[in-house]
Parts: sequence; structure tokens; C-alpha cells
Amino acid sequence: MYAGKARAYTNIALIKYWGKKDEQLILPMNNSLSLTLDAFYTETCVEFDETLTEDQFFLDGTIQESKQTKKITAFLDLVRQRHQIELFAKVDSQNFVPTAAGLASSASGLAALAGACNQALHLNLTDTELSRLARRGSGSACRSIFGGFAEWQKGTSDQTSFAKAIDADGWEDELAMLFVLVDDGVKDISSRDGMRRTVETSSFYSGWLDSIETDLTAAKQAIAEKDFVKLGEVTEANSLRMHGTTLGAVPPFTYWSPESLKVMQLVREIRKNRLPCYFTMDAGPNVKILVEKKHLATLKHSLAEHFSSEQLISASAGPGIKLLPVEGSEKS
Ligand code: ADP
Ligand code: DP6
Repeated sequence: MYAGKARAYTNIALIKYWGKKDEQLILPMNNSLSLTLDAFYTETCVEFDETLTEDQFFLDGTIQESKQTKKITAFLDLVRQRHQIELFAKVDSQNFVPTAAGLASSASGLAALAGACNQALHLNLTDTELSRLARRGSGSACRSIFGGFAEWQKGTSDQTSFAKAIDADGWEDELAMLFVLVDDGVKDISSRDGMRRTVETSSFYSGWLDSIETDLTAAKQAIAEKDFVKLGEVTEANSLRMHGTTLGAVPPFTYWSPESLKVMQLVREIRKNRLPCYFTMDAGPNVKILVEKKHLATLKHSLAEHFSSEQLISASAGPGIKLLPVEGSEKS
């Protein structure tokens, strides 16, 4: 038996990954830039075990059906093939984040799985190698290897597509993200399916790609200059453009709900009347608000008349992936 365990935190993209140029290798159409957060994470334990006759995937204590397990098996097959292992594995994962609700469980989930495999099989992967491996599970997972800001450089091959930490000179610690949970149920269209449909059919997709370089440059400049307003403006605009592409898809779709629009409107009002804050959204109806830590309490207070305290979750910049001791680790 080979066992390993890791914890990885979710990350939220400020400049989004939206579209693949290679589905098999998970090579993205564009670079993306994210902030890893401390509030939501996944802990995953993997055991490669000679007594198993197939892979088993437990999520939050419940054994998953074959549809969910398929993605895990595909990832484990890659690891097994690369490292000449023939054993099936039991994957036991705990999400401290709602699953498939647009809160980046795929990022923390697949990064944690990559980290657990690294530990179990004594692969001694560097952060870059681990980022490349996590990418094969879920694109956004490659950014969760790193704490703080990270940029996923799209690259042109399996070797050259990975994330790198962006040194922000500690500025990330002055920032916060407030999650407004309007719905933590499983979404109808996964990120994977949504981005595929958009790339294949949306007449707006080329406009998205045309704007990426400018957005990325502005975001990196804002980080270098510690310019919150500049970072916020480009974050919000980039997210709106990403969501714009879904409306041009065939058939068209949107991840927004009426509640999402309400939050966006509130953010605009608060920004006009009180303090700088900017929203971003992913493949789900929940809204994340980027704010300076010094204004977080006021922002929360302003939203408290519209949302319950359970719906408002604050996050700070989070750390990179961590290896954890395996219970009964003498087994490994
Ligand atoms: P989200 O917004 O939560 O990332 P996605 O649709 O992008 O939603 O991804 C959800 C998928 O990520 C799940 O259906 C599952 O395949 C995978 N996933 C989520 N959590 C885990 C986990 N802890 N371990 C492995 N895979 C996970
Ligand atoms: C909207 O990384 O979940 O959150 O690579 O198909 O697993 P796959 O997709 P995933 O997509 C994330 C999309 C996004 C934007 C982002 O995180 O950059």
C-alpha cells in the first residue's frame, strides 16, 4: 500500500481561463491569473492498494458513482502510466467548499489529488511539475499549487503549460474576497461543458480572446503597482466579458441568476457611495467581491441587510498546497 494526503485551497481567477485548445492535455486558449484563498479547501487521501479490483472515490464520506469516479480514474491512469504503477486506488476526499457550485471545488479537489499522489508514490515533484500534473485533472487546479497570486501560462505543450506564483510583495495580504452564496447547489452546466460549448459555438468567443492580453497586462501592472482600483476594474470587466461569451453560444446559456444580478447591482451602488469593491463570477451563480481588507467589515455590513451571515463568507489570500500526515502512516 502506498498512501499520501494533501490539502489544497481553492483559487478564484481575476483573469479567467475560459476555453481549451487541447481537451486531452487541458491546454488553455489563454493565460489566466488567480488569487488562492484561505476559506475553502479540499483534503484528499489516496491509497494505492493491492487488494482493490477497481478505483474507489469517496467524496465527503459517500462513495461516488461511476460518472464521478471516471474523472478520478482518468487522472490516476495518467499517474499510473507515467510511474509504472498497476495498483488501483481508494481516493477519500473531503471538500470544505460546496461541490460544483462555481466555487472552484475542481481546482482544490484536483490539486489535492495531485498532491496526495505525489506524496503516496514518492514522486518528489517540483511545484512546476505538480502544477502540470494537477492541470491534467482540471485546468484551474494548476494554479492552486501556489499561494497568493498565480498566473497559468498557457504554453504550447504538456511541458510548457503550468502556473507560476506572482510575487506581489505581500500585497495579497491586504486584500480580501467576500463570497456571496446565492445558491450552493450543483450547477446545470459544468465549467468543462460550458467552456466547450462556448469555444465551439459562440460568435463572441473571438472577442474574448482579443481582450485577454490587455486585461492580463493591466492586472499584472496593477499587482506590481499595488493599485487596487486598477486590479478591481480589470477583474470585473474580464469576468463580464467571459460571461458575455455564453450568451452568444448555441444554444445560449448563462450562469447568472436574478440573485447574482442583485449582488452585482449592490456592488455598483456600494462602490459609488462608499468604498472600492469589484465583483467576479465563475461557472455558477455565486458572486465573489474583491475588496481591500480594511473595507471588508463595512462591505459585509452593507450587504448584511440583504443576505444572511451564512451567505456571506470572507476569505483572505491563502497558502499553496500542503502535504499532510496520513493517518496510520506506517502503512505507506
Ligand atoms: P466548481 O465550480 O465547483 O469547480 P466544476 O463544474 O468546475 O465546479 O467542477 C466540479 C467537478 O470537480 C466535480 O463534478 C468533480 O468532478 C470535481 N471535484 C470536485 N471536488 C472534488 C474533489 N474533492 N476531488 C476530486 N474531484 C472533485
Ligand atoms: C470559470 O478548471 O473547472 O472557473 O479544466 O475543464 O476542469 P476544466 O475546467 P475548470 O474551469 C474553471 C473555469 C472558471 C475560470 C477560472 O477558474 O479560471
